[in-house]
Amino acid sequence: MNVLLIGSGGREHALAWSLSASPLLGKLYCAPGNAGIAAEAECVAVAADDIAGLVAFARRERIDFVVVGPEGPLVLGLVDRLSEAGIKVFGPSGKAAALEGSKAFMKDLCAKYGIPTAAYGRFTEAAKAKAFIRERGAPIVVKADGLAAGKGVMIATTVSEAEAAIDAMLTGGQFGAAGTEVVVEEFLEGEEASFFALTDGAAALPLASAQDHKRAHDGDSGPNTGGMGAYSPAPVVTDAVAADVMARIIEPTIAAMAAEGRPFKGVLYAGVMLTKAGPKLLEYNVRFGDPECQVLCVRLMSDLLPALIAAAEGVLRSFQLRWYDKAALTVVMAAKGYPDAYRKGTEIRGLEKAAALPDVTVFHAGTKGEDGRILANGGRVLNVTATGRTIAEAQQRAYEAVDLIDWPEGFCRRDIGWRAIGS
Ligand code: AMP
Ligand code: GLY
Repeated sequence: MNVLLIGSGGREHALAWSLSASPLLGKLYCAPGNAGIAAEAECVAVAADDIAGLVAFARRERIDFVVVGPEGPLVLGLVDRLSEAGIKVFGPSGKAAALEGSKAFMKDLCAKYGIPTAAYGRFTEAAKAKAFIRERGAPIVVKADGLAAGKGVMIATTVSEAEAAIDAMLTGGQFGAAGTEVVVEEFLEGEEASFFALTDGAAALPLASAQDHKRAHDGDSGPNTGGMGAYSPAPVVTDAVAADVMARIIEPTIAAMAAEGRPFKGVLYAGVMLTKAGPKLLEYNVRFGDPECQVLCVRLMSDLLPALIAAAEGVLRSFQLRWYDKAALTVVMAAKGYPDAYRKGTEIRGLEKAAALPDVTVFHAGTKGEDGRILANGGRVLNVTATGRTIAEAQQRAYEAVDLIDWPEGFCRRDIGWRAIGS
């Protein structure tokens, strides 16, 4: 099969790495890809949100199956356009991708179908939002409705901070169209976990558990980012917790989406808060997590490609996945300054030495190749990933590899996995 993968991050490098190992694979293309993906796939210069360009490429190259990495093209309806062209694709339709594309839609769905999540209100008028905030008090959470590259969530510790966030979003146009409606919700306390399930619109297959570190700096301090590191399994997600999340959150959502005429096919990623009152949904994403996907891919023993095809074709019910009984951990190396302003184009050395360590894989997140050199080309740049018998062992190997990478303009957290190791 000729497969086209869409995206250019560490998630897509990990997917390319897994797909390349499939005996079913003919040729793998990636649009647009990065310098690491280029070792696994032929990178083509079509942007991930150029829907018409991607459909035209898939037709021209007679692509048998498309795998979509990021949420942007999903929300824009790439899956619908490919399906209309008769091309098989893994991922949700535009209407189903609203689970991530509109937080207000997601919250209303949960309310209608009794799926546990934080209490909320949705607003387009600042005065009404502020009245709700004053009535509820702080801490309280303000979220832009639409896609805001992971930056649209404000955890306010005071009422005035929350009111300022309302002004910035509703009046100040902080997130443009994505912030013309806001969700204001109850602050949930507990430990957070990332929960993934493959689904074909009816059946759901849970994947291994993972945890991410959202804050930029050690000790979970600093600004929120797309994720600075992850590990799998997540010790807090016991078999009982996983069963609870499936029964109370994932399965009711899949049934609800089908009932709403928006069947969800693809990978459903629930950000869940494990509260004293049980797991509650923080958010849905309609794609694999980045960097959680990287640790899932190195733990997956089964062939990924037939699993994705089964989800796309509606035959997941009889499908099973096998996992290696080992832990995995990934450390994100980012350009100094990330998630704020950072430089591009700085040179990275020592990648071969790092990747040559046993049980280490270095996924590229934001790189480009130029005259045989590897240059940083984004905020999150590398995902140094290792496996081990325990998370502690995987962590030690990952940092050994990090220390072999010579990139003075980069930084990483030194404490990825602390919750799992410290407990
Ligand atoms: P989201 O993009 O909705 O996942 O929000 C980003 C991060 O903000 C989450 O990973 C949580 O750490 C935090 N967060 C979001 N909603 C809440 C909430 N209702 N209570 C506490 N923390 C939250
Ligand atoms: N790691 C968080 C995300 O992919 O949204």
